[in-house]
Amino acid sequence: LEREEGVFHLKVVEGKHEFFQGIEEETLGYNGDILGPTLRVRKGDEVEIHVKNTLEDETTVHWHGLRVISAMDGGPHQVIPPGATWKVRFPIEQGAATLWYHPHLLHRTGPQVYRGLAGLLIIEDERSEALKLPRDYGVDDIPLIIQDRRFNSKGRLEYLTRPEDIIDGMLGDTGVVNGVLAPTFSPRLGVTRFRILNGANARTFYLRFSDNRTFYQIATDGGFLEKPVGRRELILSPGERAEIIVNFTSSDKDLQLRDGDYTLLTFMPGREPGEVEKLPKELVKGAESIDTSKLKRRYFVMQGTGRSVNINGKQMDMRRIDEYVKLGETEVWVVTNSSHHMGMGMMMGGQMGMMGNIPHPFHIHNTQFRILSRNGLPPSRWERGDKDTVLVSPGESIELLVEFRHVGLYMYHCHILEHEDMGMMGQFNVS
Ligand code: C2O
Ligand code: CU
Ligand code: CU
Repeated sequence: LEREEGVFHLKVVEGKHEFFQGIEEETLGYNGDILGPTLRVRKGDEVEIHVKNTLEDETTVHWHGLRVISAMDGGPHQVIPPGATWKVRFPIEQGAATLWYHPHLLHRTGPQVYRGLAGLLIIEDERSEALKLPRDYGVDDIPLIIQDRRFNSKGRLEYLTRPEDIIDGMLGDTGVVNGVLAPTFSPRLGVTRFRILNGANARTFYLRFSDNRTFYQIATDGGFLEKPVGRRELILSPGERAEIIVNFTSSDKDLQLRDGDYTLLTFMPGREPGEVEKLPKELVKGAESIDTSKLKRRYFVMQGTGRSVNINGKQMDMRRIDEYVKLGETEVWVVTNSSHHMGMGMMMGGQMGMMGNIPHPFHIHNTQFRILSRNGLPPSRWERGDKDTVLVSPGESIELLVEFRHVGLYMYHCHILEHEDMGMMGQFNVS
């Protein structure tokens, strides 16, 4: 999106979108019928954004992954009434990363995102501009917002129509990439960068290429990894992002990006050679290891199922502050998913869905954290970058190194949006 006199203008609008030809669906979008424009900013920028809500309903816009004062965070306290314009202004204080924005209304985030509200916020910095990486937006630097949707036999969107939807969250059966069913893309020969967002309400994607090729992950939620990491499968839970580099050759026939059995994207490599040939060996300096034994520890236990999902036995209450945190202090947050097999687990919705045995992606506002350990073991190489959302599988316990640089009231929550909407969220105050 281009700035007009230094300001990004976002308009939340109702739209009509054809997932299937000839079937118009009522959708929501920013400045268009579905999703939103990519906002591209640079570290050090003072960013001003005006969000006009033209809906008959309230909304909010949250900048997921951004370090920002709470009045600008766009959480459930920053409601934009119908017809109103919300003006925010904040400096970009963090490094290059692929962030995103989406609504965050209390109890009603899921349906608004499902109808189409989500967009990317890309930060560049000196380092990202100096590295020899593809960054020609839309040419060899490609955003992929991956989601899933469920359509009924008439091709209409379905939302929360089955009993398991309130347990697993809203799982679709059809992949949607950048708002389109089964799109094709024609990359240049050589390397292309994809900035991938799992923008699904509830589904964790297990992404692979149809020929099982190796690709290179270069970034996590909050920025670059120390070095590119070769992978064949990328697991992304709702809210998480990754940047990957894929090498295309002229002999790539029928190449697809898949999640399990579903084709998300089909490639038809073009003939034009790309500009970047080799990947840099080092992307950024790795974080120094620190002694965490004396740091304050806080414990977050995700538990319950269906309407009873909660954190530490509590469900979201706008008037209750759950944690008080000191500005600038480094802490260890220990996040546990205590759901477990219940003997006779039933398959629900097809995804891990045993009753009470559900993975929860834990997200914290106003920070980028580091994963210290998973069940006592060091994180995999591809999880060592900055993160703001982390998948916590049933029975797992994860230690996170967190630190906050802005004051105010913020949220932590499960990023399965139906869990968040049912109350799997808490508030912390930084002062
Ligand atoms: Cu992406 Cu609190 O959300
Ligand atoms: Cu967030
Ligand atoms: Cu959850």
